[in-house]
Amino acid sequence: MRAIAIRKFGDTPELMDLPKPTPGEGEVLVHLGAAGVNPFDWKLADGLLDGKMPHVFPFIYGVDGAGAVEEVGPGVKRLAVKDGVFGQFFHAPVGTGTYAEYVVAPESNAIALRPRGMYNDQAAALPMPGMTALDALDRLGLEKRQSLLILGAGGGVGSFTVQLASNRGITTLAASRGPNRDFLHKLGASRFYDSSARSFLDDVRVGYPNGVDAMLDLVHRGPEFEHYLPLVRAGGAVASTVGAATEELLTPKGLRAININLQPSTELLDRLSKEFSSGKLRIPLEEKVPLAGAPEAIAKSRAGTGRGKTVLTI
Ligand SMILES: NC(=O)c1ccc[n+]([C@@H]2O[C@H](COP(=O)([O-])OP(=O)(O)OC[C@H]3O[C@@H](n4cnc5c(N)ncnc54)[C@H](OP(=O)(O)O)[C@@H]3O)[C@@H](O)[C@H]2O)c1
Repeated sequence: MRAIAIRKFGDTPELMDLPKPTPGEGEVLVHLGAAGVNPFDWKLADGLLDGKMPHVFPFIYGVDGAGAVEEVGPGVKRLAVKDGVFGQFFHAPVGTGTYAEYVVAPESNAIALRPRGMYNDQAAALPMPGMTALDALDRLGLEKRQSLLILGAGGGVGSFTVQLASNRGITTLAASRGPNRDFLHKLGASRFYDSSARSFLDDVRVGYPNGVDAMLDLVHRGPEFEHYLPLVRAGGAVASTVGAATEELLTPKGLRAININLQPSTELLDRLSKEFSSGKLRIPLEEKVPLAGAPEAIAKSRAGTGRGKTVLTI
């Protein structure tokens, strides 16, 4: 089968011809129609979990995908051949990914039935960023009309968080360094801020002199992360998807710390499907790239210059 893979950590990904996997006990084989591109994919390929989980080489990129179940292994109960599915196929050993024609994963993974009207390319874009957005909002627990500032709002997690937060009646303040004003307003953002502007902090303070109720930072660590903390009111919450929101740093400042570490589940996927089916969640699919174009899509993801979601069509 065709797959995008590397032979060792840090290699440039390339199109390879690799054996089609077979499902073992409790596993499903999915014929993929599309794979979602996430920063997690290249972080894993750089060795993020080296020494923490077993890996296989050639290492096939990708964790998110959508397609149809082609075969089930012994003991599989929940899923059946021909089911249209989407979800996260990440499991040990790392490197059996979704940038490929086929993927095998335990049916206990976060793999759900694809709702009616959701195509493979849309479904592949949803799992990681959609579940992360839901998880972040659940943990922030904001009430209607409370304010949430999102840094890095133009990317995958940001564009789903803007929508899901707006659906909950939260006042959604989208900050992006890209030309994403119209894009984010269309997704439901109440306000847009250019986070690359020198005046950014002052721009936010004009509307929120006492600080916003919460901030979700999808980008910054260290001193850069600390730089934006004064934008949050005393007693407010700060969430990070890159491990920056430690209690050690935030508790002394009177802020609630939330480090997101996504635990994928079919329950989260089903909640996203419901939002999609009720017409309240748009899949912000900005780029569809054929599998062979994955190396360029990965390079763009590393640069952080994309908007919404990119998927690979297989
Ligand atoms: N901990 C977890 O469980 C978890 C789960 C999901 C994702 N994540 C992590 O969360 C981060 C965001 O994920 P994503 O899927 O939204 O990624 P993405 O689609 O690549 O979007 C990231 C966005 O961050 C902004 N950005 C990127 N690099 C930047 C830089 N150097 N300076 C300023 N802004 C920059 C850009 O937004 P603007 O153009 O709008 O500024 C970009 O679109 C990634 O690091 C990802 O690995 C963690």
